[in-house]
Amino acid sequence: MQIESKLPNVGVTIFTKMSKMAHEYNAINLAQGFPDFPVSPELIDRVHHYMQEGMNQYAPMPGVPILREAISSKTEHCYGWKPNVDSEITVTCGAIEAINSAVSALIHPGDEVIIMDPAYDAYEPIINLQGAKAIGVPLRQPDYSIDWEGVRSQITSKTKMIMINTPHNPSGATISVKDLSELEQITEGTGIMVLSDEVYEHIVFDGQAHQSVLRSEALRKRSVVTSSFGKTFHATGWRMGYLIAPSELMIEIRKVHQYNTFTIHTATQYAIADYLKDTAHYEDVAPMYQTKRDFFLKVMKGSRFKPVPAKGTYFQLMDYSAISEKGDVEFSEWMTKEIGVATIPMSVFYQDKQDNRVLRFCFAKNENTLAAAAEKLCAL
Ligand SMILES: Cc1ncc(COP(=O)(O)O)c(C=O)c1O
Repeated sequence: MQIESKLPNVGVTIFTKMSKMAHEYNAINLAQGFPDFPVSPELIDRVHHYMQEGMNQYAPMPGVPILREAISSKTEHCYGWKPNVDSEITVTCGAIEAINSAVSALIHPGDEVIIMDPAYDAYEPIINLQGAKAIGVPLRQPDYSIDWEGVRSQITSKTKMIMINTPHNPSGATISVKDLSELEQITEGTGIMVLSDEVYEHIVFDGQAHQSVLRSEALRKRSVVTSSFGKTFHATGWRMGYLIAPSELMIEIRKVHQYNTFTIHTATQYAIADYLKDTAHYEDVAPMYQTKRDFFLKVMKGSRFKPVPAKGTYFQLMDYSAISEKGDVEFSEWMTKEIGVATIPMSVFYQDKQDNRVLRFCFAKNENTLAAAAEKLCAL
């Protein structure tokens, strides 16, 4: 049988590869973005409670109303605008399903989608699966901010969507109020949609406010915003996310969602609805990760790795050019095998796989995991 691959250039992801290597060589895994500390016992207890209560059958396709109501109230609390519970919120199987369903529903063959470069590795294949093209606009150095002139210069009659991600994986950069107004100006009077991937919305540091596109009346009329309870409540394996979009976009997105995952784990939806009632459950996430970021930077001070300041997410970039001339893929593989710390080489996030000798470290770990990793890394 001859199989014509729809994604000929895609193999297993670097995250799977590095996690497998970390396991094989018994290395500390700072590669894949998953926390190694427990989920709140209270939240687990709520899931258990609702399973015992009999919430074990299909939930409504867009998500249980009580969770959509809780998401709507959280959005109003955080960004000053309340999305419609019935028509503007859908609960999804992680943010990745939200992105996939949105792009599948809204992007057609031949369309162009502007993405930032480097970007989370899923965007380009998801766009390509629709027969569309991802047009990368390089982020500015050294702070990975968005080059709006670069974005403007790439807009053509085929541009259907601009995708942003704030806080940004892999760099940890965040957008500002000025960025929101640039995006407003660029899209004003056009039919261009925005997909704003805000899975790390509750992981922003140093007293900044998260600049969601939902804060802007002009932008939210054309935007799909994706978020992840997996990230917010460090329960990435629960696969719980959601998206917010204006109803005319949501009608199309739900057509895909209903034949994709159809619905999401019912008891977990009820549990999260309860858990969201206490705003501290999401407001305390940023200080918790900021303490981890600061701890990781402190224990790495004695090393020859040079950190790139992270304003959000649970990732820290480190430049290793003072340590080795090796390429980043080779160096990260060597570090996993010989030093016992797994990381992600930054080149995998670039369209052209450019190598600036930078690695991405995930600090969503217990302090003793971070300290043990730092001890090994400081010896380099
Ligand atoms: C930027 C970004 N978007 C989306 C996702 C997917 O989130 P989820 O695990 O909720 O599917 C991730 C996960 O790493 C991510 O980093």
